[in-house]
Amino acid sequence: MILERDVPVLAAPMAGGISTPELVAAVGSAGGFGFLAAGYATKSAVAEQVLETRKHTEDFGVNLFVPGPRSGADLGPYRERIAAQAARFGARAGEPVWNDDEYAAKVDLVVAERVPVVSFTFGCPDESTVDRLHDVDTEVVVTVTTPEEAQQAARAGADMLCVQGAEAGGHRGCFTDDAVSAGGGPLYGLLPALRAVRAEVDLPLIAAGGLVRGEDVAGVLSAGAVAAQLGTAFLVCDEAGTGPAQRAEIAAGERETVLTRSFTGRPARGLRNRFIDENEAFAPAAYPEINQLTKPLRAAASAEGDPEALSLWAGQAYRQARAMPAADLVRRLRDEARDAMAQARTRL
Ligand SMILES: Cc1cc2nc3c(=O)[nH]c(=O)nc-3n(C[C@H](O)[C@H](O)[C@H](O)COP(=O)(O)O)c2cc1C
Repeated sequence: MILERDVPVLAAPMAGGISTPELVAAVGSAGGFGFLAAGYATKSAVAEQVLETRKHTEDFGVNLFVPGPRSGADLGPYRERIAAQAARFGARAGEPVWNDDEYAAKVDLVVAERVPVVSFTFGCPDESTVDRLHDVDTEVVVTVTTPEEAQQAARAGADMLCVQGAEAGGHRGCFTDDAVSAGGGPLYGLLPALRAVRAEVDLPLIAAGGLVRGEDVAGVLSAGAVAAQLGTAFLVCDEAGTGPAQRAEIAAGERETVLTRSFTGRPARGLRNRFIDENEAFAPAAYPEINQLTKPLRAAASAEGDPEALSLWAGQAYRQARAMPAADLVRRLRDEARDAMAQARTRL
């Protein structure tokens, strides 16, 4: 369970093959807490990862994507754009079809497996799902980006909230995409988000977004969070399944991060590249349809190692991410946080 860990540092779930059982195990071995990412993966692949992780640790989490509604948007024009760009790689556009990410089956799996912690993003699980998880003593975490989402999650029975600031790498966990602002709703930075959520909801809060060093962990603990969840910092660790192009672009540190809907139809933060520049203005709010549409193009770009058409998810502080074994990073974060706390005390 999260609050029982020695180090209040969580390795964020990172879908798409990045959160490996090895990463989760390494973080746990140093006293932190790791999540597997069930999003995009098949139920059987998640089952295998759970099994593999259990060879190393009993204390870990699984993250699920809550399915949203089908998009009513006309996807035709965007489909034509993407088809033309895919052709540059000798690829086709994917079929922009909706799917539920095997959500119900994955909920059944984590209940049957009695996974200690289950976190949700892209929406709020219903009360009956939360009850089923509580019946097997699973701790339920819901990702929120606004105080309104926090209230909804609290009503559904969440045990903890993961408060995600707009600095965060990867997809925003917002429950709905307002289809107007690229951010998909109000863009709270992490500290204001923590403050606003705390004013409304009395649950333990995990802080996420733009945290890469122990000083940052100390900062959010001081702000009232019980733990810090880091994605980008672990993305470059040895055990992460991050591809070579993404690692190289992060190490180079030459690109700005932007929020974009162009790759998946949902706002996500990543390194700006040609694909975003060419498509952002035209991308409909249609997740997961747009994710399906761009998948073959991204796979082809990945095979060619072309960073200009890949989704290079990364948070705003990515330039300070340090490549090293994950257990070393957890220990380093703990030591830095302790030093930062002591240093801060001298100023007060
Ligand atoms: C590559 C990548 C993949 C991510 N995948 C997921 C995911 O599957 N589920 C989820 O809840 N959050 C996901 N996130 C968001 C993280 O949970 C977290 O909010 C974010 O990484 C925090 O910001 P940081 O990257 O600046 O540390 C992802 C983030 C990144 C960078």
